[in-house]
Amino acid sequence: MFDACVSCHRGGGPGPFPLTTYEDVRRRATQIAQVTRSRFMPPWKVEPGVSHFVGQRLLTDTEIALIETWAKRGAPEGEPAAMPPAPTFADGWLLGTPSLVVRPDQPFVLPALDTDAFRIFAIRIPITRRTYVTGLEFHPGNARVVHHANIRIDRTDAARKLDEADPLPGYDGLMPRTAEYPEGHFLGWTPGQVAPLVPPELAWTLEPGSDLIVQLHLQPSGAAEEVLPEIGLYFTDQPPQRVPTILRLGSQGIDIPPGESQYVIRDSYVLPVDVQLLAVQPHAHYRAREIRGLATLPDGSTRLVMHIRDWDFRWQHVYRERTPVPLPKGTRLSMEYTYDNSAANLRNPEVPPARVFWGQRSRDEMGDLWFQLLASNEHDRLRMQAEVNSKMTSEDIVGYETMLKVTPDDAELHDDVALLYLGMGLAANAVRHFQASAALRPESASAQFNLGTALAAAGRLQESIAAFQQALSRRPDYGVAHGNLGRVLLVTGDVAGSLTHFQEAVKLEPLNPQNLLGLSEALALRGAIDQAIETIERAIKLPLPETLAKEVLAKRAMYRKMRK
Ligand code: HEC
Repeated sequence: MFDACVSCHRGGGPGPFPLTTYEDVRRRATQIAQVTRSRFMPPWKVEPGVSHFVGQRLLTDTEIALIETWAKRGAPEGEPAAMPPAPTFADGWLLGTPSLVVRPDQPFVLPALDTDAFRIFAIRIPITRRTYVTGLEFHPGNARVVHHANIRIDRTDAARKLDEADPLPGYDGLMPRTAEYPEGHFLGWTPGQVAPLVPPELAWTLEPGSDLIVQLHLQPSGAAEEVLPEIGLYFTDQPPQRVPTILRLGSQGIDIPPGESQYVIRDSYVLPVDVQLLAVQPHAHYRAREIRGLATLPDGSTRLVMHIRDWDFRWQHVYRERTPVPLPKGTRLSMEYTYDNSAANLRNPEVPPARVFWGQRSRDEMGDLWFQLLASNEHDRLRMQAEVNSKMTSEDIVGYETMLKVTPDDAELHDDVALLYLGMGLAANAVRHFQASAALRPESASAQFNLGTALAAAGRLQESIAAFQQALSRRPDYGVAHGNLGRVLLVTGDVAGSLTHFQEAVKLEPLNPQNLLGLSEALALRGAIDQAIETIERAIKLPLPETLAKEVLAKRAMYRKMRK
């Protein structure tokens, strides 16, 4: 019991009752024999064949049989003096005294609902300079009702705004996409799980102004309950030496017909460099049943990296390898998840079953297998990271397209996916979505501006000019719209028109270097070289990113030559 149970079954722990004394255990002997035989306890969803994770304390068949025999014989005490000492849990924080403890300003009161609830908190992290984190420890505050926690970092104020807009502590809804894992690391909590601290060389970086985003999955107890989670953060002075890469396999194109009991998604990725596998995290909602992750090495041998037959949404868990697993370049990582959207699936949240799409709400479906991979050197890491980013962005695009099947009139979704397409260099697709967004918001100047920008990127210059003019008819003092229009007019050879709009843009936004650069070009083309030089020198005085700084200096040199 001390080895396998009391980490949760102790006073203040997440287990519903303590199992710390002989008397505690004797009273529940029969039930304990049942839950251990069925392998319901200790809770561990992974098949026994995959047995290399931190915290995996499966009972052996012999131990289970021993418990059963003992219970049958009336749960005798044995020799009290031979009882081993109970494990102690220091001062509540299992990882030692935290460098910083944060919590929401006020507790959230969970009403006595009859369904599960989710609550998201944006918690300010009061640091004033860049800080390096070796880990965190999550305390649920009210272990009876907190089932698990998803934890992310938001470097923007997106989640905080949502939190502040809700009059009660926290808010109900989705985490914004800006709430992310810190680069290279997973965060999260399930009962009994305390992720060990990472060595300082692998610490992750926390920027001042970031918020800790904590999403609690709550299970009401029948009475109103106060919930006030606490998070202890552990810092190191040393900046990290190595950054792991997070790879996400999965599908965001999930679309399961009602009644379908064997819906399968698959995905894979071939490692471009040697890595060490540090951890995996599966994620799916209620209809997923079997979850498999496999590594196929270049020599053809395979390693099962994850296998859960009876997926349970309520046991979200980060599975950390006890020792890093070397995977050579050329290894194929793959995942295969099977969903049951029939009425026979007891966990199906909709009866009768309905068509279900990919989405982040718990009644939608998801299917991700996340890998934490450590490359051997920075060169390899950057190479893999670039590939992984574009792979994940492609899949994010699939996710947006799926959500738009469900809510085609969501202008914000059209804008978001259009920006991803632009980032991937797929301007024609961006145009299609910005057109949809503009049609949904006929009064919006920014919708026309976005459309004009994408049309320009797609080389459709006349249409782009028309869109910018539409934007300016809705908002005449729209500085960047004047600037972008000036740029397109310059390309089409309308120097006079271009000059007018760049002049307007510089008047409205005198500190935007792109406007000054454009204005100087239009002036130079009209032969006003001195004015062009004077204009470019205003840009040179501004704080500029490196490539732009080079460009403006080159421009000035060119104008000076033209003057001679
Ligand atoms: C990781 C934390 C954790 C560990 C380790 C753990 N339990 Fe539990 N246990 C729980 C939680 C949480 C529940 C409440 C049921 C649920 O949420 O699924 C529970 C419920 C139980 C129940 C009640 C089951 C029921 O049907 O109501 C028994 C009995 C039990 N545990 C025994 C044990 C024994 C024996 C061990 C060790 C072999 C053990 N547990 C290890 C967390 C744990």
